[in-house]
Amino acid sequence: MEIIRTVAELKAKLDTARKNGSIGLVPTMGALHAGHLSLIQRARSENDTVVVSVFVNPTQFNNPTDLATYPRTEEADTAMLREAGVDYAFIPSVEEIYPEPDTRQFDLGPVAEVMEGAMRPGHFNGVAQIVSKLFDFTRPTRAYFGEKDFQQIAVIRRMAELEGFDLEIVDCPIKREDDGLAMSSRNVRLTPEQRAIAPAIHRTLESSLDWAADHSVEATKRYVIDEINSFPHMQVEYYEIVDALTMQPITDWEQTESAVGCVTVFCGDVRLIDNIKYPKRK
Ligand code: PAF
Repeated sequence: MEIIRTVAELKAKLDTARKNGSIGLVPTMGALHAGHLSLIQRARSENDTVVVSVFVNPTQFNNPTDLATYPRTEEADTAMLREAGVDYAFIPSVEEIYPEPDTRQFDLGPVAEVMEGAMRPGHFNGVAQIVSKLFDFTRPTRAYFGEKDFQQIAVIRRMAELEGFDLEIVDCPIKREDDGLAMSSRNVRLTPEQRAIAPAIHRTLESSLDWAADHSVEATKRYVIDEINSFPHMQVEYYEIVDALTMQPITDWEQTESAVGCVTVFCGDVRLIDNIKYPKRK
């Protein structure tokens, strides 16, 4: 595996690789865990060349403390990438990616206006900035994203359509710890007591599937919020049940072919997200 730090070198290597077949890109912010590994393994099995980017993108953080405390573990990350058979690890500096401020504003539309878009102003524009740069530098055949960030995938699809990128965006299922907690780089910031409680998020979402069978959308939302908030340290920021394609909140189960419940919970000061798919009703 080669570690590449500059855009020029990355482009040169991939120009050669492209002549020999497909390129799979896995964009990450590092602090890699088994969830990332599952994306990398999928990319490895479907492409001739695999590139993993490791870059904590400052423009997508709307909270300076979150950016400052985001875990950075380059040595462990490169060891994991090597072990996983990655060809190129792209690990640039902030100056390399943003030699000057990126002032682009993407017209991401309604998919980016709700949930994370409403709670974290500017976040999705920052995601669109970095992912569009990565797509541009690597021109991948396929790019892999985890469904934990369910809304992010819809936003990236919209950005790719706006910018005319010709690639396959592959969404990959959430990887969970044995106790159900969705894997996240932020989990390491949980205290042992918070870590013990955090699996209640997934447990509650799972139990809401039964509840939803004979309750309204509104009552199901109330159930999830009240249940999670009943645990110490836990505070739901939002729970929305949305259409899986448009990300727009639904008020009636019959309104969509595929409903997804998306939750954000503060566990202490650690912001955790998760989601669940509800079975089709019509
Ligand atoms: O999901 C993430 O880790 C980030 O938002 C991404 C897609 C790597 C862009 O920085």
